[in-house]
This record gives sequence, structure tokens and C-alpha cells, in this order.
Amino acid sequence: MATFPTVRMRRLRDAESWRDLVRETTLSARDLVYPLFIVHGSGVRGEIGSLPGCYHISADRLAPEVEEIAGLGIRAVLLFGIPATKDGVGTGAYDRYGVVQEGIRAIKRAAPDLLVITDVCLCEYTDHGHCGVFIDGKVDNDRSLDLLCGTALSHVEAGADMVAPSDMMDGRVGAIRRTLDDHGHSGVPIMAYAAKYASAFYGPFREAAGSTPQFGDRRGYQMDPPNVREALREMELDALEGADILMVKPALAYLDVITRARARFDHPIAAYNVSGEYAMVKAAARMGWLDERGAALEMLTGIKRAGADIILTYWAKDAARWLAEG
Ligand code: PBG
Repeated sequence: MATFPTVRMRRLRDAESWRDLVRETTLSARDLVYPLFIVHGSGVRGEIGSLPGCYHISADRLAPEVEEIAGLGIRAVLLFGIPATKDGVGTGAYDRYGVVQEGIRAIKRAAPDLLVITDVCLCEYTDHGHCGVFIDGKVDNDRSLDLLCGTALSHVEAGADMVAPSDMMDGRVGAIRRTLDDHGHSGVPIMAYAAKYASAFYGPFREAAGSTPQFGDRRGYQMDPPNVREALREMELDALEGADILMVKPALAYLDVITRARARFDHPIAAYNVSGEYAMVKAAARMGWLDERGAALEMLTGIKRAGADIILTYWAKDAARWLAEG
């Protein structure tokens, strides 16, 4: 095999046109999904302190936001809801006129082709902040499933194009699949937060969604960060239960999980570039310690290079603009 001086790796790096020609991974606005936080009330559009550049928006103010998103070439949004009131069983999650349900209707009116994905979980709607219901001091798996199924169904009935269960209860993908099928929604896909880790990188999101657990933590249902074989088992089970898209979350500390998932499954693989990954770059950029655009595009490209087809990211709008600028 030839080596230096016959081989000079720098030849194909010499100019932007060479680099463009040999680039192995390209990021596009079409790969990105933008998360939206819908709040109760009207006339609300307030910047989220822990997620600069992202907003709490009420349903009546969504139209210009989603028109902008669609205009940037982004194909999908992921909805989270922050209800007016919370209770022990997360009633707001499956309310026909809940914040997300109303948000879906508003988005579908304003931008009918923009895909609406909904996060299906109870933690933003429960007063204790856990992702399921409490029975005898524990998050009860099987009783939580009914509520999650009701939540998913209410989203689809309001017009959601896809549901994304993020609670990490066992069996929820199969239960939601059966519920949707039984109600005539066999054409609606499920994106499973299949390998979702109990991560410190969700901090800014919990502030944005007001979903910090009031006691305990989520380690009893979310995955333990050191494990990757277990992640593959989770993904296998969700695939068997009928998941159409498999997600790894968070992304950056779990690039190996994304790569292993890509090699093992032929499903589209999604990766969630979570709030902490975004907020730490924002904070460092504010301090003048790094360039946000460069760091963000490098991270997103790395997530794609690792094997993700779809990236959920708070940078979706900025990245779409940066990519269009070239
Ligand atoms: C709801 C949910 C969370 C995130 C997405 N869906 C929070 C959590 O599990 O604590 C995190 C998103 C982010 O940090 O950007 N269960």
C-alpha cells in the first residue's frame, strides 16, 4: 500500500470544491425535527430561559411560527404541552381540548403539510412529575399504559401525523399500536423513544416543561447510561411491538448507541439532540468561548455520521438557515 510521499491526504482538502466533492455526510433541513412547547392561554410567545431562541407559545400564536418552520424546509415538529393545571393522573395529557390537542388543530390549519409528531408522556401533566401513575409508592407500568394509550389516541384524533411515546414503560408501543388500530388509525406511525437514558442532559427541558420529578428520579424506568446491549434489547422489543422509527436519546454521549442501532436495524433511526446539549453550547457561546454556528453544525453532522437519519433538535430553524446560506 502506498504511503507518503506518494500519498498526500491534503490533496483532496485543498479547496472548498474538493471538500464538497468528497464529503461523506451531508446535513439537510429535511433531516431535522423542531420541538415546540405549547402553553395554555392565549397571546403567549415567551422565550424559554433555559433554551434561548426557543419559545413557549399558545395555540393561537402558532400559525406564524409553523409557517416559518415549513418555509425553512423543515418537514416535522414535535409537540410538548404545558397545561394550566396538573394532577396525580395527568388528566391534561388525554383531554380532547388539552394544550397539545388544540395546538395540533392550529398547526394543521396553518401548515397542513408540516408533519405533526407528538411526545406521548404524562410527566408534564402530573403534579408529581413522573412519567406514569403512582400506585403504592411506585410508577405502575401496566396502569400507566391505559393513560398513555388514551393520550396517543387523543393526539391522533386531533390530527397528529405520528405519536412518539417517551415514557419508557414496558409494552407501551404495542399497547398504543393496538389502540390506534382498534380506532381506525392503522396508518399512523409510531416513533418510539426506544433507548431513552436517565440523563443529566434533560435539565433545561425540565425547566422549560415544568416536569422535574417532585421526588425521586426516573432511573426506575429510563435506561442506565453505562448500558448499550440493553439499549439494543429495548429497540428490538419496540420494533417487535410495531415501532416504525426507533430513537436514541440523548445523542452526543450516546453516538455509539446510534451506530450500533444503525448497524442492527433497518428502521429509520432518530436521535434526540437534547436540551442540555443545546443549552451548554448556547451558554459557552454567550461567554464568547466558542462559535455557536460551527459547534452546532459539527454536532449535528456528527450525529448524522454516527448513523441517525432523523435529528430532533432545538437548532432546527437556525441550522436550516445556516445550511441555506452554505
Ligand atoms: C418527557 C420528555 C423529556 C424529554 C423529552 N420528552 C424529559 C424527561 O424524560 O425528563 C427531554 C427532552 C430534552 O431534554 O430536550 N418524558
